Amino acid sequence: MASREALMVVFWLIGSSFFLLGTSIRLADDQDHRNEEDLVSAACNRTFYVDIFISSIRSDPRSSTISDLKGLADVALNVTFVHGMETLEYIKHLNSNSPAASYRSGCLRDSAEVYADAVQSLQDTVHLLRIRDFEKVNTLVSAAMTDSDTCEEGFNEVLDDAEGVSPLTQRNQYFSKLCSNFLAITKLLF
Ligand SMILES: *[C@@H]1O[C@H](CO)[C@@H](O)[C@H](O)[C@H]1NC(C)=O
Ligand SMILES: *[C@@H]1O[C@H](CO)[C@@H](O)[C@H](O)[C@H]1NC(C)=O
Repeated sequence: MASREALMVVFWLIGSSFFLLGTSIRLADDQDHRNEEDLVSAACNRTFYVDIFISSIRSDPRSSTISDLKGLADVALNVTFVHGMETLEYIKHLNSNSPAASYRSGCLRDSAEVYADAVQSLQDTVHLLRIRDFEKVNTLVSAAMTDSDTCEEGFNEVLDDAEGVSPLTQRNQYFSKLCSNFLAITKLLF
């Protein structure tokens, strides 16, 4: 029963994603329009986190001008980058409010370092995507995903301590899902 309901939700999300992304595509020719719509809907279908994919793409003003898979990949990359930058800022904010010598502060410093790497990787990916070096795209974005895991694990090492509770779990998980979605889209460009 519950899994049937979950399946219905997934179908609904996929269906509405076709509609939402489909309606944002402006093409003169009906046949082209059909083809692009098919491409984008097939693309949504290939991501693991369809609902996050749709809401993240829609949050970007450029989503209304997406006309092909490359455009979709560009926006998917950018929303991931922006989330990484915001997380980095958030980490710095948290650290400025933590006692300097605390375990938490050490984790936050490590997290700031790995997120700075992750954001740099995503920035480098813009060029790699342009020259279609998908192998390097895959390597760099997978590394960015690992960076968010590394951040999370740093906090979890001290399980019996209140300081070992990660204040970044949601952000880390969301970042990882955005990376996963972006990689799923780039696979369609290969
Ligand atoms: C979406 O995935 C389902 C299940 O794999 C498939 O049957 C369907 O044809 C796909 N839709 C598109 C538009 O690719
Ligand atoms: C994301 O978009 C912003 C605004 O257009 C741009 O300044 C930035 O370089 C982009 N970054 C990436 C990694 O796509």
